[in-house]
Amino acid sequence: MGVIVDTEDRIVAGLGDARARTLGLLAPIDDADLERQVSDLMSPLVWDLAHVGHYEELWLLRNLAGAPPTNELFDDVYDAFKHPRRDRPSLPILGPADARAFDAGVRSRVLDVLATVDLDGDDPLLRDGFVYGMVVQHEHQHDETMLATIQLMEHFAHPDADDWRPSSVLRSETGGQRASSVPEGDVTIDGGTFLMGTDEHAWVYDNERPRREVEVPPFRIDRTPVTNRHYRAFVEDGGYDDDRLWGADGWAWRQRTGADSPLFWRREGEGAWSRRRYGRNEEVPPDEPVQHVSWHEADAFARWRGARLPTEAEWEKAAGHDGEPGGPQQMLGDVWEWTATDFDGYPGFVSFPYREYSEVFFGNEYKMLRGGSWATDPSVERVTFRNWDYPIRRQIFAGFRCAAEA
Ligand SMILES: [Fe+2]
Repeated sequence: MGVIVDTEDRIVAGLGDARARTLGLLAPIDDADLERQVSDLMSPLVWDLAHVGHYEELWLLRNLAGAPPTNELFDDVYDAFKHPRRDRPSLPILGPADARAFDAGVRSRVLDVLATVDLDGDDPLLRDGFVYGMVVQHEHQHDETMLATIQLMEHFAHPDADDWRPSSVLRSETGGQRASSVPEGDVTIDGGTFLMGTDEHAWVYDNERPRREVEVPPFRIDRTPVTNRHYRAFVEDGGYDDDRLWGADGWAWRQRTGADSPLFWRREGEGAWSRRRYGRNEEVPPDEPVQHVSWHEADAFARWRGARLPTEAEWEKAAGHDGEPGGPQQMLGDVWEWTATDFDGYPGFVSFPYREYSEVFFGNEYKMLRGGSWATDPSVERVTFRNWDYPIRRQIFAGFRCAAEA
């Protein structure tokens, strides 16, 4: 058995895994809940379900093979840019059974086309299966979005939720190192240049390229993401009531929303906190990384601790030391980690294959997230991957770790 996997085999497996995950996630949810809008922030689940099929048809049938659209109307209703999420329930979207049938029909034609395309030629869309990798990752990213939607459903206890835990928690339950036994504190990362980003084209997005040398002064960074225990200390120390800890936008958000703890937390009396996790209430587990905090909350916590959020470059440099004895840990697969950096292209950025993946989001409206959460599929999880969101967002599986000058 070799480890080299044929590109076509990798594509077939990747597409199949993504679809199995999508259908598995949604299988226990009844049609009414699939069509319901759980939150203004999210699409109805059935919109995501057909949107992944529409994206797949657009890129792998229409763009690659010149196939006609199944329905021209879908270019409007399933274009994420044309209608905000809150308006999507009023669109003429497919119901659950039709959405599943549409996705399956697209997939079967996609596999027929795959057998005819040249993955070793000069077409940059096809080379090493790029556009297929893009479609696989897209579906997995929507699966993560759907996991956030399902978490927002107040009364639905998904039967698979026990498996939906930060990687470090799952490892500790199977006899690995317990999260609570990882030494706390921070590590010092030497200053100097490192190679940030990647030049790989296959299965990597435009915003991760090009790779180049970046100079980073020495800094300290937390060994692990901030835990619920630590975050609770900030809450109970009055962190939410001390305007000196918050940026102007953050304090305005805090005043407007009345937020006084992470999303889904509830105070159960003196010193006791519970959280709702997939429809069930449980004690807040002290050693897990905190999740469902906005960038503003992360920023205020860091200031409370006399620290700051790492820059994206610091985060990526530190991630290169993940796994070394005494190095930073849990950088991939626990929680998305907020960084101090706004979204921009790297020097030499070239939009590919469409501006709407990354470029239209550049600017100071978004903060970068790194690392990938427990809900992020391995096909999307890499140290160069760049995620972004508004600094007020809390429904995503985001936490953070702090940094400081060395
Ligand atoms: Fe999408």
